[in-house]
Amino acid sequence: MTEPIVLGIETSCDETGIGIVRGTTLLANSIASSMDQHARYGGVVPEVAARAHLEAMTPTLASALSDAGITLADVDAVAVTSGPGLSGALMVGVGAAKALALSLGKPLYAVNHLVGHVGADILSGDDVEYPTVALLVSGGHTSLLLVRDLVSDVELLGETIDDAAGEAFDKVARLLDLPYPGGPEIDRAALVGDPTAIRFPRGLSLPKDMAKHRYDFSFSGLKTAVARWVEQKQDAGETVPVADVAASFREAVVDVLVTKAIAACRDLGVPRLLLGGGVVANARLRQVATERADAAGIALRIPPLSLCTDNGAMIAALGAQLIQAGRAPSGLSFGADSTLPVTSIQA
Ligand code: KG4
Ligand code: ZN
Repeated sequence: MTEPIVLGIETSCDETGIGIVRGTTLLANSIASSMDQHARYGGVVPEVAARAHLEAMTPTLASALSDAGITLADVDAVAVTSGPGLSGALMVGVGAAKALALSLGKPLYAVNHLVGHVGADILSGDDVEYPTVALLVSGGHTSLLLVRDLVSDVELLGETIDDAAGEAFDKVARLLDLPYPGGPEIDRAALVGDPTAIRFPRGLSLPKDMAKHRYDFSFSGLKTAVARWVEQKQDAGETVPVADVAASFREAVVDVLVTKAIAACRDLGVPRLLLGGGVVANARLRQVATERADAAGIALRIPPLSLCTDNGAMIAALGAQLIQAGRAPSGLSFGADSTLPVTSIQA
C-alpha cells in the first residue's frame, strides 16, 4: 500500500484524539480535551480522564470522519496508542481501536505515543531527515531521543528522573496562585518579568551530574527552590514579585532543556533537532531554541502546535509509516502498557 488511509486513536492522557491521514497527508485531526474537568484538581485525574475518553470517543470519531470527508469503509487500517500513558485512559483507546478494526475487518497497529510525537512532523509537509535528536516536553514526559529511523531505531538518550517539564510549570503556577494549566499562565506572567531577577538552580547541570546524567532532566529541585523563595518572601511580609519569579523559573527550565538538547546534537554529530509536546507552546523555549540552534548550525524543526500536543494524527501518521515499511499488524492480543519503553515503536 503506497498511501494508506489510516485512522489513529490517541487517549494516553487527557486528550481524546482521532486523526486521519493518507500516507503523509493530514486529512483530519479531531481532539476533545478533558482539561477543564481537571483544572480544579491542579493536574490530570486518571479516572476522570478515562471516563471523559469514553464519552468523547464516538463524537470525536464522527467529527474526524466528517472533516476528512470519508466513511469508515474508506479506512485501510487503524492505529492506536498502546502506551506509555495513564492505564485507564489508554484502555479506552485500545478497546475502541480493537472494536473498530475487528468490526471493519481492517489491520490494527498498536504504536508508541512518544514515537508518535516524533513522527508528527512528517505531516507538516517537508521531508524529515534522519538521524535527528528529538526533545519531547509535555505535562507527562521530558525525553531526549536519538531517532535514526522512525519505524525501526529510536534510542532513549535521557529523560526526567522526577517531574516532567510541563508538570513543573503546573506546580509552580499553583505556588504563585495561577490557574491550571500553568504553562500558558507562567508564559503570560513572565512577559513583564525579569528572567535574571532570581538565579534558580539548573537541575542535573553541574559537572558531576553531567558525567552521570548528561541527557537526563530533574525539575523537582527547581520547584522546591521556587517554593522556598516564595515562602521566604511571604514570611517576611513582602509581596511576591510574581512576574519576576515566573520569568526566572521559565528561564531555568528553558536553559536546561535547550542546553542538553544542543549538547546531544553536538556530541552525536547530529545537526538536527526536533521539538514536540505541549511545552513547545512556550514562547521563550521557542526563542532560545531557535537562537542557540542557529548559533550551533543545527536545523531546528518545531511542528505546528496542533501536532505538538497530544493528537490522533501523529498516531495515524506513524501507523501509515509502519504499513509503508511493510510491517505486519499488531493483532488483537496486545494490551495497554503504561510504561511502554520508547524503543518499542510498535507493540
Ligand atoms: O502535550 P500536552 O498538551 O499534554 C501532555 O501532557 O501530554 O502538554 C501539556 C503541558 C501542561 O503541563 C502545560 O502546562 C504545558 O504543556 N504547557 C506549557 C505551555 N502551554 C502548555 N508549558 C509552558 N509554556 C506554555 N506556554
Ligand atoms: Zn504526549
